[in-house]
Amino acid sequence: MYLGIDLGTSGVKALLIDGSQKALASGHAALDVSRPHAGWSEQDPAQWIAAINEAIGALKRSNPVQLAAVKGIGLSGHMHGATLVDSEDNVLRPCILWNDTRSHAEAAELDSDPRFRKITGNIVFPGFTAPKLVWVARHEADIFKRVAKVLLPKDYLRLWLTGEHISEMSDSAGTSWLNVAERRWSQELLEATGLEESQMPALVEGTQQGGTLRKELAAGWGMGPNVVVAGGAGDNAASAVGMGTVKPGQAFVSIGTSGVLFAANGSYLPNAESAVHTFCHALPDVWHQMGVILSASDSLTWLGGITGKKPEELTAELGDKLKAPGRVTFLPYLSGERTPHNDAAIRGVFTGLAHQSGRTALTQAVLEGVAFAFRDSLEALRTAGTELHRVTAIGGGSRSRYWLKSIATALNLPVDVPADGDFGAAFGAARLGLISAQKADPATVLTPPKTAETIEPDAGLTEAYGDAYRRYSALYPAIKGGT
Ligand code: XUL
Repeated sequence: MYLGIDLGTSGVKALLIDGSQKALASGHAALDVSRPHAGWSEQDPAQWIAAINEAIGALKRSNPVQLAAVKGIGLSGHMHGATLVDSEDNVLRPCILWNDTRSHAEAAELDSDPRFRKITGNIVFPGFTAPKLVWVARHEADIFKRVAKVLLPKDYLRLWLTGEHISEMSDSAGTSWLNVAERRWSQELLEATGLEESQMPALVEGTQQGGTLRKELAAGWGMGPNVVVAGGAGDNAASAVGMGTVKPGQAFVSIGTSGVLFAANGSYLPNAESAVHTFCHALPDVWHQMGVILSASDSLTWLGGITGKKPEELTAELGDKLKAPGRVTFLPYLSGERTPHNDAAIRGVFTGLAHQSGRTALTQAVLEGVAFAFRDSLEALRTAGTELHRVTAIGGGSRSRYWLKSIATALNLPVDVPADGDFGAAFGAARLGLISAQKADPATVLTPPKTAETIEPDAGLTEAYGDAYRRYSALYPAIKGGT
């Protein structure tokens, strides 16, 4: 048995699989985000530990025998967060999350130092880890002085699980401190932010062993000694492992809290100017590119919050048949924008509202706005040299057929829907646990799921979608600086 633990922004999931990769059961626990000031987004790591205990506790009640047989654990987590611990491993402040934009000035400063793009292959985005540490040094100097280790969120979980300070390549590539081509920390970039390599965790590949489960925890969960904890991956690379998106030409669109258009690459293909992320994958000698939307299904959740409806109630009101875009346009920039504009200060807008624009018109515009943001990422990947011919859809938002049709039409690409099953980040993490514990060949383990259905672009609406995409694209320059 193998266990995948995914630390998501809105909850923890623990998924149990057997040696044939069959998902047996999962445990869940919800998490909140605290937003104490505009642009801030934080979580208390103690909440993560409580949530893991709850999620694994649920598995212990439902599947005690299988849980006790776990031989390998894989970790996945939301990326870029700064979890700061002192020399006794005490947490120094709440973790500053991936969608926190407080350090946009610090990010721009680091980004203007050409060494960052050259060594990391990426823009220094405000959500990345390095500018957060510069912000802490400036605004919370006492805390900065006490930082013994900077850990990514899932690597803080590993510290609790194993007692070790270890990270892996895919998540570390999103810190702005990794030499992404050579897969090692850059002493030069760490120094440029007042840090040293001794303050960073050791690095392994996602498929390699990254610690052993602490005996007390193993005993509490009924497991034997020597449970391997794999390196694991940042949540997007973990989802890719779950989907078998590990070879050139394979790609997925993830409609989660954030939105991601992800393509696997057989070599390192940086193109920072396009605002595409070029990161290490969770497997040795594999890289990937992705475009990131900060608020994807989060935009629909927001609309649900203010209309008093669940997201699935909002999408159900639209029916299944794709409509031509109306006059209402939505830019999904509720917490700023990553690909392609890299603008932390921008905020979302609705335009074209009329007396008759009711709730369904707003829902339609939100779904289209996110679909057009994916189109922006597709164009950015194209500029970065990656041409996609089809994508597979994953994430909570992919339960809406309307949204899938809208995305297929906006991208003008077929969208494959995997056969029922659990192929997300927790599954990818469990696969990494399996590979690491069995020393298995990733190529034989990481097969893609069967396709249940392919959603083709709606040929009758591609022109209307093309026009609407042009209106959408013209809006950002018009509102820039004005929101
Ligand atoms: C990726 C990113 C998000 C988080 C969300 O760069 O910021 O996808 O990983 O979990």
